[in-house]
Amino acid sequence: MDDIVLQMKAVSKVFTSKMGGLTILKDLNFSLKRGVIAGIVSPSGTGKTTLLQIAGLMDVPDSGEVLIGGVAVQNLSDKKRAKIRCKHIGYVYQQHHLLPEFTALENVTIPLLISGVRQKPAEARATEILSEMLLGERLSHKPSALSGGEQQRVAIARAIVTRPEILLADEPTGNLDPVTSKYVFDNMLNSLRKRGGGALIVTHNHHLASALDELYELENGTLVPLDRKKLIAEIKARLPVQKTIVKTTVARNLMQSSKRNPLK
Ligand SMILES: Nc1ncnc2c1ncn2[C@@H]1O[C@H](COP(=O)(O)OP(=O)(O)O)[C@@H](O)[C@H]1O
Ligand SMILES: [Mg+2]
Repeated sequence: MDDIVLQMKAVSKVFTSKMGGLTILKDLNFSLKRGVIAGIVSPSGTGKTTLLQIAGLMDVPDSGEVLIGGVAVQNLSDKKRAKIRCKHIGYVYQQHHLLPEFTALENVTIPLLISGVRQKPAEARATEILSEMLLGERLSHKPSALSGGEQQRVAIARAIVTRPEILLADEPTGNLDPVTSKYVFDNMLNSLRKRGGGALIVTHNHHLASALDELYELENGTLVPLDRKKLIAEIKARLPVQKTIVKTTVARNLMQSSKRNPLK
């Protein structure tokens, strides 16, 4: 169907070790619609990264099908799969995997160059998105000269710079403080929704989870819908959002990142 950007049909995955077979995904079905941001909230070791890697065409299931924009990918050549991945999928890795020899700007420019954009417009677009991620002053830094949270924001910028229809993000707020994380994600999710893309985000961040359209738990190898209202009520009771503090801190970060200091 046209409005489904990503579909997984009866996907199973077993890892074998000396101890025997370990079933991680079992007849898992999932459809991601345009304009929908879905989340997975479940404990470590339940198979979230495995699921995302299969959805992102970086791993193959033992059985079942993955469809990107209605196209089944399992019988395609590696080259064709790579092309589909490059064109349609943005992926934020759990361990961000930035290229250490390249600057923040180069890391974010590379996906655009690969997809055929010329150097100058590619750099302009990468600069724009890094600035939106509050990294306008870090363009020429290599990953080793960036903090964990900054590296994570570069990785997010790299994943969304090509404006992919599908965004897959594996615990993308792990290293971000709550204020920056809220700012970055509000921006990212709003632009994704506006252009009709879909996202599947693995997160343990309750604020982020509460902003998503659909929530699932990965349980016994399949995705089980979570009662979103109940989860949000619990979150609100535990962690009231201090909107004024969030706004003030974001404004301060923005001003500092553009070298103007409003506090003087
Ligand atoms: N390549 C692999 N070989 C063997 N076991 C693996 C492999 N990748 C993951 N696993 C196992 O599969 C389970 C799920 O892993 P993972 O998908 O990374 O979970 P999560 O992201 O939810 O923490 C874990 O128990 C892990 O040890
Ligand atoms: Mg994981």
